[in-house]
Amino acid sequence: MTTSSAPGKIILFGEHAVVYGRPALAVPVTQVQATATVSENSRGGIRVEAPNINLSSDLSRLAPDHPLAAVINSVFSALSISSPSDCTVYIQSTIPVAAGLWSGAAVSVAVIRALSEFLGQPLPNERVSTLAYEAEKFHHGTPSGIDNTVITYARPVYFIKSKPIEIFSVGKPFTLVIGDTGIPAPTKESVSDVRRLWETDKTRWGKVFDEIEKIVHEAKKKIESGEWKGIGSLMDQNHALLQELTVSSVELDRLVAAGRRSGALGAKLSGGGRGGNMIALVEKENAPAVAEAFRSAGAKRTIVTQVG
Ligand code: PMV
Repeated sequence: MTTSSAPGKIILFGEHAVVYGRPALAVPVTQVQATATVSENSRGGIRVEAPNINLSSDLSRLAPDHPLAAVINSVFSALSISSPSDCTVYIQSTIPVAAGLWSGAAVSVAVIRALSEFLGQPLPNERVSTLAYEAEKFHHGTPSGIDNTVITYARPVYFIKSKPIEIFSVGKPFTLVIGDTGIPAPTKESVSDVRRLWETDKTRWGKVFDEIEKIVHEAKKKIESGEWKGIGSLMDQNHALLQELTVSSVELDRLVAAGRRSGALGAKLSGGGRGGNMIALVEKENAPAVAEAFRSAGAKRTIVTQVG
């Protein structure tokens, strides 16, 4: 039997613009995990069990473009296995689906690692990330690759599409409160809406992406030099640009405002937007008060996480 776990993630700065070649910063969130366990199956065939999504099926009965079938089959073809041994792939996740912490990439990474190890050919990180990226296309349509990268390496990453990954350092640890609106919001939809917007006026929206890029560069410098308090106002600026890109929502804006009112140093949505999660930068001792403010403003769940 083999088991592998992969963390959740949050995008600190640069979501959406990253799809258009601009950089973004993302960090793992280890409080939430997806876990895959692969074991021998005496009944024969390949079983896929994912109780979180009420799935219990033979692999052969899943549509080939089902994200789990796609990721499992991609491991077999990467390892050139034409008749795989009987096994059960059991998947569990504490990461909310379609909520900006992204369960899809974490599930893919955990499955790829546990299955390749079960088959006696554990894959290196680079292959794991590439296969997870292929699976991401089923979830996201045109993913930038940031999710599979940060989750595979489980380290803070400065990410530019199609460029080698760069791990960034955190000069001084800082605290974030994550607020979950509880509203499922498929990233595929917000990404394709932003693409439609961009196509209406590429110069105008290109400038918005450039402004986001400047914020990402400034934020990286501040995080690396330990001036973490300075990233609060950069979060506010990034959120305003995401509002312009139409990917915020009433619920996200309500949580962002509640965070700022309760003493957060800055706040923004994180990920695809429209629903899902937002983040607020806080002084560590103020985290419980901000989390409470989020819950009063409608958050279904809050997580306090330390970066670095
Ligand atoms: O919704 P999430 O947390 O998976 O974030 C997606 C980030 C986007 O920039 C909106 C899309 C992408 O593929 O980079």
